[in-house]
Amino acid sequence: MNKVNTLISKDELYNRIKQVAEEINENYGENETLNIICVLKGAFMFCAELIKYLKMPVKVEFVSLSSYGDSHCSQGKIKALNLTLPEFENENVLIVEDIIDTGLTLQFLMEFIEQHCSAKSIKTAVLLDKAETRKIYIEADYKCFNVGDMFVVGFGLDDRQLYRNLDYVGYIE
Ligand code: IMP
Ligand code: MG
Repeated sequence: MNKVNTLISKDELYNRIKQVAEEINENYGENETLNIICVLKGAFMFCAELIKYLKMPVKVEFVSLSSYGDSHCSQGKIKALNLTLPEFENENVLIVEDIIDTGLTLQFLMEFIEQHCSAKSIKTAVLLDKAETRKIYIEADYKCFNVGDMFVVGFGLDDRQLYRNLDYVGYIE
């Protein structure tokens, strides 16, 4: 395994995720059910940390999407491995994603939910935002950190399926 240099430490991650959860708490009524959609695989750690602090009733769904395959840049085509979601019958939806890069994955999932599930609102929360490499206009409603145009790993994010278990975000030397 290659050495990974720290970009965002464990403490920075945990503090900022808690702040973002508090922001989310302020924007929904405390009795309004929030349907979290965790985008696998990359968002599993961020999602687990974020939802611990949410105060409204929370339900969690998982979808498995892939745009990178095993390469270092988006293939431009989204692969959906398991895309079945319930009707959200007038409840709020929050998509939780690890990183927005080109923006195509989030756009794809938002359009899918708009077309197939009758949600009251659809918002997005991302751990990392790589704004420089966007191919379409899309902004997350909640974001924890900006990162430059570099390939990052850790805290759920992988390089060829490795490094997801790191408790910090870093780049490979
Ligand atoms: P997008 O569709 O280009 O916005 O890509 C988003 C997906 O690409 C994310 O959910 C990640 O799984 C993956 N991805 C983008 N940048 C990185 C990175 O720097 N490291 C690891 N995965 C990445
Ligand atoms: Mg992902």
